[in-house]
Amino acid sequence: MEGEVKIQGSKNSILPILAACIICKDECIIHNCPNISDVHITKKILEYLGCKTEFENNVFVVNSKNISKNDIPDNLMRKMRSSIIFMGALVSSLGSACLSLPGGCELGPRPIDIHIDSFRQMGLKINERHGKLKCDCGSGLIGCNIAFSFPSVGATENLILASVLAKGTTILTNAAKEPEIIDLIHFLNKCGADIKYSHNGTIIIEGVERLHGTEYTVIPDRIAAITYMAAVASTSGSVVIKNIVEDNISSVIPIFEEAGCIINPIDKCSLKIDAPARLYCNRLIRTMPYPGFPTDAQAPIMAMTTTADGTSVFVENIFSNRYKHVGELLRLGADIKVEDKVAIVEGVKRLSGAKVNAMDLRGAAALIVAGLSAEGTTEISGLEYLDRGYEKIEETLCKVGAYVKRVE
Ligand code: EPZ
Repeated sequence: MEGEVKIQGSKNSILPILAACIICKDECIIHNCPNISDVHITKKILEYLGCKTEFENNVFVVNSKNISKNDIPDNLMRKMRSSIIFMGALVSSLGSACLSLPGGCELGPRPIDIHIDSFRQMGLKINERHGKLKCDCGSGLIGCNIAFSFPSVGATENLILASVLAKGTTILTNAAKEPEIIDLIHFLNKCGADIKYSHNGTIIIEGVERLHGTEYTVIPDRIAAITYMAAVASTSGSVVIKNIVEDNISSVIPIFEEAGCIINPIDKCSLKIDAPARLYCNRLIRTMPYPGFPTDAQAPIMAMTTTADGTSVFVENIFSNRYKHVGELLRLGADIKVEDKVAIVEGVKRLSGAKVNAMDLRGAAALIVAGLSAEGTTEISGLEYLDRGYEKIEETLCKVGAYVKRVE
């Protein structure tokens, strides 16, 4: 693969930011919004709530002045597990919310106990019955000190959204530190919120009277960047990756360099990756909360290691069921053994193309990375998972010399 790849806007930034727009009751213009199905589902939720929305050429315009509903229908909640993020936004915007429990997803059970316990500490009345969450904040949420038992990304975002208009000060400790959290904070502060954060996972939110609309550009998608880099590394490519924030992928760069890739930063938002004829990977990779190795990069990076000399050991510490892509990689001839949270990958000479099935978003990306380096043709079904998070991935890969075709 040769040429240039431009990275899309961040899926995991745009979703909480679009939810946050309903608190502004004003017009917000969001640039660099990725054209992915999760954004289209969020657009449907916003329109159901009574917002005016427009989305084209990666610009999302939403006006939540006439927001009128505080509930999200089951079918929309079920389509996107992260729609639980609307709970904090609706409570701040309307004082109440009625959502169905998000239920599990492809990665295993997706509990929300940290969200619920923290909301209750702020005085939110939550009634859980028949798979529904009915929430009401009475005369308003009260700021307080909340120590998360785990730095949950979604719970951190939800409690930030619930605190921006609360009475007094909310201090979140052991909060998630992912770049997408910082992006949400920057957006909210541009809307008039008063949020400070430290790099030790403490976030201080001073409740304000109201938020106003703004214009904002979301950060690049760090997981998409890592995915394309894994594709380049697996095919001995030489590609410029544009529109990145190198700090946000710093935990993964050493893995590419140790595997024999030359990574040259070009300027503060692009780098060139030159891969060797054969990769080498003999490494223990543990997924951890940011700034550790990201769980979302586990599958694409594992696909890259399947044809690297050496043995790589993955420990998936974040989700209980995030190895569904292993069975499909085995069908391509990979040598992987899984025991509970641990996956041991012995590099093989080459994979061979086959028909495989994507079962979750990053697993789908892993199958593309593997298929690009396999001998012969690989046919991947389950593209609805891929389309949730990757904008025009086949077009992007073809531009740098891959042969990827979507067959309806
Ligand atoms: C966000 O999911 C991301 N999704 C995920 O990306 C990402 O993998 C994850 O953070 C970790 O970085 C979005 O931002 C839309 P968590 P989230 O709450 O918020 C447990 C992708 O591929 N937990 O940090 O759901 C939970 O079960 C997606 O882009 C509780 O036990 O992640 C999991 O094991 C997949 N109780 C762990 O914490 C809770 O109340 C991390 O979950 C909440 C979470």
